[in-house]
Amino acid sequence: MYRTKTCGELRLSDAGSQVTIAGWVQRTRKMGGMTFVDVRDRYGITQVVFNNETDAALCEAANHLGREYVVQISGTVAERSNKNPNIPTGDIEIIAEKLNVLNASEVPPFTIEDDTDGGDDLRMKYRYLDLRRNNVRKNLELRHKMTMEARRYLDSKGFLEIETPMLVGSTPEGARDFVVPSRMNPGQFYALPQSPQTLKQLLMVSGMDRYFQIVKCFRDEDLRADRQPEFTQIDCEMSFVEQDDIINLFEGMAKHLFKELRGVELTEPFIRMPWADAMKYYGSDKPDLRFGMKFVELMDIMKGHGFGVFDNAAYIGGICAPGAATYTRKQLDQLTEYVKRPQIGAKGMVYARVEADGTVKSSVDKFYSQEVLQQMKQAFNANPGDLILILSGDDAMKTRKQLCELRLEMGRQLGLRDKNKFACLWVVDFPMFEWSEEEQRLMAMHHPFTHPKDEDIPLLDTNPEAVRADAYDMVINGVEVGGGSIRIHDSALQAKMFEILGFTPERAQEQFGFLMNAFKFGAPPHGGLAYGLDRWVSLFAGLDSIRDCIAFPKNNSGRDVMLDAPAALDDKQLDELALKIDITEK
Ligand code: AMO
Repeated sequence: MYRTKTCGELRLSDAGSQVTIAGWVQRTRKMGGMTFVDVRDRYGITQVVFNNETDAALCEAANHLGREYVVQISGTVAERSNKNPNIPTGDIEIIAEKLNVLNASEVPPFTIEDDTDGGDDLRMKYRYLDLRRNNVRKNLELRHKMTMEARRYLDSKGFLEIETPMLVGSTPEGARDFVVPSRMNPGQFYALPQSPQTLKQLLMVSGMDRYFQIVKCFRDEDLRADRQPEFTQIDCEMSFVEQDDIINLFEGMAKHLFKELRGVELTEPFIRMPWADAMKYYGSDKPDLRFGMKFVELMDIMKGHGFGVFDNAAYIGGICAPGAATYTRKQLDQLTEYVKRPQIGAKGMVYARVEADGTVKSSVDKFYSQEVLQQMKQAFNANPGDLILILSGDDAMKTRKQLCELRLEMGRQLGLRDKNKFACLWVVDFPMFEWSEEEQRLMAMHHPFTHPKDEDIPLLDTNPEAVRADAYDMVINGVEVGGGSIRIHDSALQAKMFEILGFTPERAQEQFGFLMNAFKFGAPPHGGLAYGLDRWVSLFAGLDSIRDCIAFPKNNSGRDVMLDAPAALDDKQLDELALKIDITEK
């Protein structure tokens, strides 16, 4: 037996017992005639004492242990005189009687402690060492618990876990595909699935009724803190359901996860906010509702008073930051610079303070009488001490998105985005289509298999941009943690959808014939949803990036710096795959 106990389980009640532990040397300290060695494994840390007086040779061996050596130590558990209340094993130590070095270690490139001295790149290169750190390991433990609880919940509701293939065909809608060349079919490529969307719909045609899969998805898109090129979905589909059935079942799952993983009981039903309201009041389809600062539109009040910027704007809107009238000129200038950054793109910002006596002092006082400023104050329901921040622009949607960034930044500065507070909602009634400037055509906002709202179907011919979909996203703290829709199950309606998206009937048949044909053989009404597992775990763990809850993530350029992937293929492999590389500067 390598060990009789782990490094996390010994307590005062074990004092006097003989034990053997195995693990990594966290650190050694020499104090007088004693050497203390902290030994770590996944379960915790245990202090071991070597006494020079009782066994000089053994103590000498301990003095030669380096950080991260793998050791096996036997000895007697004893009560510590100098207890450490910060760790569960802090009441005891092991008086060493035997030391076996199982493996030596080179000096690690960074210290393996909670507060490490290693930078991001270094930690990614040596990710297996980074994973020895408590905080990173804890995220993986949480991830494990999350998948266990998700499986438990879905199993209890009659879902079957079914695997779908990773080598599938490329589809033109959505993000870019990662493709895989086929040696046996030269010049032809598989694609890695962006999601198992069409396959899970086929499983409904097969009569599987309730499907789920914890599944890797691959998307070749620009990366951000909440996006990885490969990520994991808890993907689900159900037959004979309406939108409410799906929302209720997955809201139940969300509440189950909150209770089991965070000990949070969510009793109220989640708010359901139409997409149009989310955009109007928060400038985002994933509003962070941990705090207020709802947008107020000011076109009626602020236009026509001689202030050119506002007079010529298509949209004027603002937020009221409670208690922030104390902001200094410097802080306001910094906020203005913040919204003017190219990533946000506002032209400027107008501010107004509500003074203690209720009067309003603004940065554009010369254009507005106190009477107009008071009307504005009322529109915000502002109180003395509040700060009003206003943006304007000639494109309402763009300006709202800028105001959204300002709202989030103010929320952050005022400490209103508390990671231990959770605000959950459903955003519903998404538009079916959005116009793509790049493609110069309508694109499906969710995906082309989404069912339009029954009452909007007549608009498909006359005004497709006004058609709303039976689609919904779950949003928590400003993060889209899941999304889904009711699907089209009628081949004629599906064909019409492809027509609106600019597919010729031949191309639709070529790309999606398998699905439209399946719909001819008794497809049940169906719908579903996919949760983003990585986003859920990082939300529960309070992380800023999903990277830290993935064992081996990619960096922001999509590289695995540890494996050094992607990498070039050698000529032999290229020949086998009938591929030629031609990298020309674009
Ligand atoms: P969607 O594209 O909205 O829907 O994806 C579902 C959820 O997956 C997560 N997610 C991501 N997480 C990390 N990195 C990414 N690059 C990434 N992209 C998406 C999000 C998102 O809400 N087939 C449909 C689902 C359905 O209709 O049933 C789909 O894939 O949390």
